[in-house]
Amino acid sequence: MSRDSFGSRFGALVAMAGSAVGLGNLWRFPYLVGENGGAAFIIIYILLSFLICLPIFISEFVIGRRSQKNAYAAFRDLSGGSAWRWVGLFTIIVPLVVLSYYSVIGGWSVEYLLKSVTFAFESASQSAMSTMFSDFVSSTWGPLLVHTGFLLVTTLIVVVGIKDGIEKFSKVMMPLLFFMVLAIAIYSMTLPGAKAGLDYLFNPDFSKITGKACAAALGQAFFSLSLGFGTIMTYASYVDKKENILFQSTATAVSDLMFALIAGMAIMPAVFAFGLNPQSGPGLVFETLPFVFGQMPAGGFVAILFFLALLVAALTSSISMLEVAVAYLVEEKGFSRVWACVVLFVICWVVGAICSLSFGPLSDVNIGGGNIFDFFDNLSSNILMTLGSLLTVLFVGWRLKKTDVYDEFTNGGTLSRNAKLFGVLWFLIRYICPLAIISIFVSGLL
Ligand code: ALA
Repeated sequence: MSRDSFGSRFGALVAMAGSAVGLGNLWRFPYLVGENGGAAFIIIYILLSFLICLPIFISEFVIGRRSQKNAYAAFRDLSGGSAWRWVGLFTIIVPLVVLSYYSVIGGWSVEYLLKSVTFAFESASQSAMSTMFSDFVSSTWGPLLVHTGFLLVTTLIVVVGIKDGIEKFSKVMMPLLFFMVLAIAIYSMTLPGAKAGLDYLFNPDFSKITGKACAAALGQAFFSLSLGFGTIMTYASYVDKKENILFQSTATAVSDLMFALIAGMAIMPAVFAFGLNPQSGPGLVFETLPFVFGQMPAGGFVAILFFLALLVAALTSSISMLEVAVAYLVEEKGFSRVWACVVLFVICWVVGAICSLSFGPLSDVNIGGGNIFDFFDNLSSNILMTLGSLLTVLFVGWRLKKTDVYDEFTNGGTLSRNAKLFGVLWFLIRYICPLAIISIFVSGLL
């Protein structure tokens, strides 16, 4: 049976960008900026995205496209069947963990979209918004229902396949997403008092830079670019051999960054315009913003646009996470695509349900100072993705043959710009990325 693949350059590009742009940009990035001191954090984030994360992204691309296999088989075959295949298996399990709790927040965005359609935030007080959020997440059935719905839609898109499901969906949704977020940003920046929010985003105070902030920026860059957990590798395995890896990778990294910045510009000016605190953590998007929407002129419509954008962004990412394990089950274990999707749906549903209940009936269960959901979020973005990224660059830099990496990166030596840049890339992959990942990780722990 021939392997499915992306049908066009644009399709591959928007699918990759779709995997990258997600809750990480619209939900996580703004509150991390808030928690870690604004502009200085953004500068560190940009530096890390291009110096460290782009080479890792390219490494994943090389592994995926060279092998044209699922992540497990890619590590296995490219290493001549060695123990590196367990790293491949690791990169298949991690996105399932992420998808499970990601789907819970995806579900919240469904709920908030429904609430915004009924104009539920209109003129409500700030404490009413906080209560609305905590009442909702701590309840049992509502969050489970929307988690189920979100995961079901994710699964249905993936069932259809790469070209007809993932690619088609991304082609329609990504441009739509871009215009929605841009429209909100433009509106938000025209609110009286918005300038304070822009200053916060773009006037750096370098005294705010700590080891912890750098570790948070790196973890966020991994999360946002979908690194270290098999998704880019898997998508790359469906990309045509003629495509330019450098172009595709840079375009994805730039669009991901642009989305994060535009999301910041959509959120912070509005938050500041209403004199609110940007440091409200994960609740920023679900507590602070609905209050802002409830106060601003035409806020009801802005709210609909925002939560629709959040949902779309979440879906284009969640499908990439599911695809990693689907490709594995189909190619290695002989599952049909439908069965693979059904089995993975059940697994992610159960783990996600536990995460969802950890805000309510299971809130007494405390792991490492947080609830089960926090545990999964911290574990995956701060540890598992970091580890996955480290192992990926070590694999490409120290296990693969330099000539093979060169060959894949330059399309057999035919791309002269890539050939010129290869020396720098190789140095970054071999030395700088591993050292930076380890030192930032350790300084974050200290
Ligand atoms: N890259 C995905 C996101 O940013 C996981 O949400």
